[in-house]
Amino acid sequence: EKGGYDYFMLKEIAEQPKAVADTLLGRIDASGRLTLDEVRIPEPVLREINKIVIVACGTAFHSGLIAKYAIEHWTRVPCEVELASEFRYRDPILDPRTLVVAISQSGETMDTLMALRHAREQGSKVLAICNTNGSTIPRESDAVLYTHAGPEVAVASTKAFLTQLVACYLVALYLGQVRGTKWGDEIDTVIHELSDIGRQVEQVLGTMEPVRELARSLKDKNTVLFLGRHVGYPVALEGALKLKELAYMHAEGFAAGELKHGPIALIEEDLPVVVVVPSPRGRSVLHDKIVSNIQEIRARGARTIVIAEEGDTTVLPYADHLISIPQTPTLLQPLVATVPLQVFACELATARGNEVDQPRNLAKSVTVE
Ligand code: F6R
Repeated sequence: EKGGYDYFMLKEIAEQPKAVADTLLGRIDASGRLTLDEVRIPEPVLREINKIVIVACGTAFHSGLIAKYAIEHWTRVPCEVELASEFRYRDPILDPRTLVVAISQSGETMDTLMALRHAREQGSKVLAICNTNGSTIPRESDAVLYTHAGPEVAVASTKAFLTQLVACYLVALYLGQVRGTKWGDEIDTVIHELSDIGRQVEQVLGTMEPVRELARSLKDKNTVLFLGRHVGYPVALEGALKLKELAYMHAEGFAAGELKHGPIALIEEDLPVVVVVPSPRGRSVLHDKIVSNIQEIRARGARTIVIAEEGDTTVLPYADHLISIPQTPTLLQPLVATVPLQVFACELATARGNEVDQPRNLAKSVTVE
């Protein structure tokens, strides 16, 4: 049932192009408009929403962090993202004009379920983004947008994460469409590129051998750091989480702009640091800033592993290892930038002799608070 792969995780990583395509299927019509009829929250209610709060745990939380950038940029509705386990204990400000989005692969995560129950008690509408049909979280929500990743067996989430991102982009674009915000050229480009993203993920998967080789060469390291900015920051967090849970290594993700506020003190000779570089097109200021960060850490001895867009030649002099990803609109970059980090963590875990599909101390679905 592993379809010829050694681990479910490898199979699920390979299934990502199809998973993202399936999640888009039937949701964008020929004229590029979104049809999310399944989201049964009436359009007038969605037009009145004045705040969006995303609650989730772990990898799903990281997809929420990325969603915030897309939602605020495309809809101009303020969006907060909160760990579900923290949410209800701080008496969050919620009312009927707050839309709560609960993201969960399993649909059974107790922390997320308790957060959404709390939100509904305060009169907020809850939209679930979920991968498991008929599970508890969608059943208790006002509406659900299913991700169509298919069953995810490996404990470490991969294809569910990519489809959560796709679902988040769809929700953001749909809200933009319903509310009449930002419905211009940029959106057309994004929708067009989103429709093509499965092919780009496929392309990335085809170039992973050097990443596996690099991972094997790092098997005796103790620490790996991950840096990113903008949507690359949650990607860095996700890369670090994958490495912790699979390779049992100390791994941390930082916003690159925070380096100078503390973490740069960690940099020492030959420390592997993965840097997710934003597109040099788009928000190019951020690109240039992160290139300076790479120079700074390299000058202090870091071994730089740079994930950058094809054709981005500015990073070449500072990359000890370069991982190229296809050109995408800035906000969509996580869909392609995360894939090498999944492969990296999986290969490092294997090289360290760890059980990839069943990491120690972890369960696929966490049904206790
Ligand atoms: C990490 C991972 C976990 C889950 C988290 C939420 O690879 O799988 O961090 O993402 O436990 O689970 P769901 O999405 O089922 O609510």
